[in-house]
Amino acid sequence: VEQPEQAIARKPMLRALAGEVMTRPPIWLMRQAGRYLPEYRAVRKNVADFLELCFSPELAIEVTLQPIRRYGFDAAILFCDILVVPYGLGQKVAFREGEGPVLEPVRNVADLASLDPAPVRERLAPVYQAVRGIAAALPLAVALIGFAGSPWTVATYMVEGGTSRDFQTIRLWAYGDPEGFSRLIDLLVTATVEHLSAQIDAGVEIVQLFDTWAGILPEAAFRRFVIEPTRRIVAALSLRHPGVPIIGFPRGAGCLAEAYATETGVTAIGLDATMPLGVARDRLQRLRPVQGNLDPLLLVVGGAAMAAQARAILAALSGGPFVFNLGHGIVPQTPPDHVQRLVDIVRHG
Ligand code: CP3
Repeated sequence: VEQPEQAIARKPMLRALAGEVMTRPPIWLMRQAGRYLPEYRAVRKNVADFLELCFSPELAIEVTLQPIRRYGFDAAILFCDILVVPYGLGQKVAFREGEGPVLEPVRNVADLASLDPAPVRERLAPVYQAVRGIAAALPLAVALIGFAGSPWTVATYMVEGGTSRDFQTIRLWAYGDPEGFSRLIDLLVTATVEHLSAQIDAGVEIVQLFDTWAGILPEAAFRRFVIEPTRRIVAALSLRHPGVPIIGFPRGAGCLAEAYATETGVTAIGLDATMPLGVARDRLQRLRPVQGNLDPLLLVVGGAAMAAQARAILAALSGGPFVFNLGHGIVPQTPPDHVQRLVDIVRHG
């Protein structure tokens, strides 16, 4: 069995997360597997429901590896979705064509009786089987990232019943009955620790917590429902799996990103595209390795506009520990050639 130090030495992604300043930063992209790739669409058209893709190990392995074959990224991210955790808890979750996710909402303490974190590992077993297959198939220098949504972000889908425009329902519950709402957050902390721990047991080497909707909360609620649950997840995982890096991605955190970086205990912090590069370099990168933050729509535009911003990011952040990424996931209309051009810029200047 290989020692962890040996794995770190040959995987640029693990070196950067360990704090090493690299001549060329490692690169992977959020949502690097997905509809912008013709080979993904070819697999996708044969399955009726998106969740079926997440729960078919052979297919999940295949689509995880597609962007690695095409671009040779420094990390693969398990193909799955943050909404498998509500599914694992027993909530009804469906993905409708053109509509996004639809969940049978939970909106008060009584609704929580239908959710149970005990069978999460069992219900999500096909996901961990996919992890084992991916780990066995990856090139030696490529790291494997597992992930989950953060409790706050996952709760927005569970309470709103899907994607939301203004998050009124969840904010009214969280502000009006913080004790009751905290019980949902507690359930999610338990389920998320189990889910990430099972991914690590199966072979992921890094985990990322996606907090897509962290940025909609005022400070006190951000501390209670974003920082505190994340801190508990990080503490539990660090006890069970010491040395496994945890990347936190609190999208839209703005001025609260510094508090998030230090108080949660995450290893590294993912930055969205609105984070100024001077703040990223002078404040955040002093605390933690940083990851980000090209606007995914610049990847759609391509050409000189994309190249200029990619170089500005490299110039600002390559002097410290850094992982090149987007500021949010790749969008479906992204031309695959532009992704290749971006990889070339990051790798060769
Ligand atoms: O990064 C990767 O390549 C791994 C796969 C991945 C998916 N979703 C696959 C997916 C990851 C890391 C996610 C995370 C995720 N899922 C987030 C957090 C990051 C973010 O983008 O904000 C959120 C909020 C979700 C929830 C979700 N899943 C929504 C709102 C939707 C519908 C909108 C959309 O993009 O279609 C999904 C579906 C989804 N998850 C797709 C993929 C490839 C598209 C479904 C399809 O192929 O039909």
